[in-house]
Amino acid sequence: MEEQNYIRQLRQIMQVRKRGEVPLAFVHTYGCQQNVADSEKIKGMLVQMGFSFTQTPEDADFILFNTCAVREHAEDRVFGNVGALKNIKRRHPSLIIALCGCMMEQEHVAQRIHDSYPFVSLLFGTHQICQFPKLLFTCVTDDRRVFVRGGEEQDRTIAEGLPTYRDGKVKAWLTIMYGCNNFCSYCIVPYVRGRERSRTPQAVLAEFQELVAAGYKDITLLGQNVNSYGKNNGCGVNFAQLLQMLDKTPGDYRIRFMTSHPKDCTHELLDTMANGKHIAHHLHLPFQSGNDRVLKEMNRHYNRSQYLELVSYAKKVMPDLSLTSDVIVGFPGETYEEFCDTLSLIQEVDFTSLFTFIYSPREGTRAAKMPDPVSAEEKSRWFRQLCDTQEQIAAQRCAAAVGTVQRVLVEGRNAKTGLLTGRTGGNIIVDFPGNEDLCGTFQQVRITHARNWILTGELLP
Ligand code: SAH
Ligand code: SF4
Ligand code: F3S
Repeated sequence: MEEQNYIRQLRQIMQVRKRGEVPLAFVHTYGCQQNVADSEKIKGMLVQMGFSFTQTPEDADFILFNTCAVREHAEDRVFGNVGALKNIKRRHPSLIIALCGCMMEQEHVAQRIHDSYPFVSLLFGTHQICQFPKLLFTCVTDDRRVFVRGGEEQDRTIAEGLPTYRDGKVKAWLTIMYGCNNFCSYCIVPYVRGRERSRTPQAVLAEFQELVAAGYKDITLLGQNVNSYGKNNGCGVNFAQLLQMLDKTPGDYRIRFMTSHPKDCTHELLDTMANGKHIAHHLHLPFQSGNDRVLKEMNRHYNRSQYLELVSYAKKVMPDLSLTSDVIVGFPGETYEEFCDTLSLIQEVDFTSLFTFIYSPREGTRAAKMPDPVSAEEKSRWFRQLCDTQEQIAAQRCAAAVGTVQRVLVEGRNAKTGLLTGRTGGNIIVDFPGNEDLCGTFQQVRITHARNWILTGELLP
């Protein structure tokens, strides 16, 4: 394989450069789990090139930022942090600085990096991950800046068989599909990630079985809209059926998935969750807005009552279901009355937790051209009101958990409290006293206290 050849050569080049010392890489990931999963593949290739990882950029021979474009704030942070690398590069001229990920897929960003950040020597987009060894090789051997992004949609195939370096030993991410076809009017993702491409069920199953065999206990299937898995590759397996296939793998583990789009979330899927042996009763189902006019303008393809119907069915078949969601406040043209529909929806549904965002205009999206008369201060007030409402709901939910017994997957020790820390099937954090060798095991824990959305408890024999 061509990549393996580049990897071998880079290994030798780096060895010579470092005079036998181990070369160090600093990889920082912004954005969602999809980016985390991509970084794990890049790290896998770096390991094959002989790199170890460092948490200190000053010590690194190679620095990579995997970037996110979803909101302006995310982009500002990247520009700020890239700017700060200039001094490190001055002190350490052989350092290679690389940028990749969603932000780099945007023409104006790549141009700005090219023109204003001359110390960045490698830039690639979300579709070039498997070409990484070749691009780095060219950058190092030709001693020139290499900028590659975009590419034709038909060339965007799925790269199978890349090595993966996973950060943890308990939780793992497994990408089942790439891209998005939905074009929600506010969202940049379809522009920077391309069209939906599902992996084959065979490839997903094989990786899943490897993860279970390697001892991973909490495996999250990833995609921008996992509910439309299989619709575009003619494999004849839908998402619910894929879950059923994976769930047959013997072992002690949990399956989660994200993100689910309400327009493609079926009763078949909810029944599969309810009847599954290993499927966590946790559903991340972003509703974005509780108002029908706003949902239509967002191009979401469902309305409030359809969303509530799904939730009510899900709760009926899984009374212990933990629901989480994403919400946008201040979509262009949203009125206070329309925002109040969002407030009433969260009160009606009773979410475990919410990811709340103030609308951020993204260049090239439909919403960015819509009139947006409400001031930033006003939107911040609505945002605060939303967060306060959810905080009360979450506090009540936490308090109600006191006295219950939960099955907790132990992830590690909480550095602050010294207690063991883990998560329930509903993805709620539970801390409790115990011995470190319980890490990576499921334990029964009785909840004794609830504070700041963290439950504490005691181990049951
Ligand atoms: N594919 C997922 C979400 C990916 S982005 C889904 O459809 O649910 C994660 C979240 O970021 C979205 O759910 C949305 O709430 C938020 N988001 C996306 N674009 C945004 C924007 N322009 N401004 C504010 N929030 C945004
Ligand atoms: Fe963005 Fe909508 Fe696609 Fe989610 S489904 S990634 S919000 S366009
Ligand atoms: Fe950000 Fe790209 Fe994910 S834009 S949210 S890292 S898909």
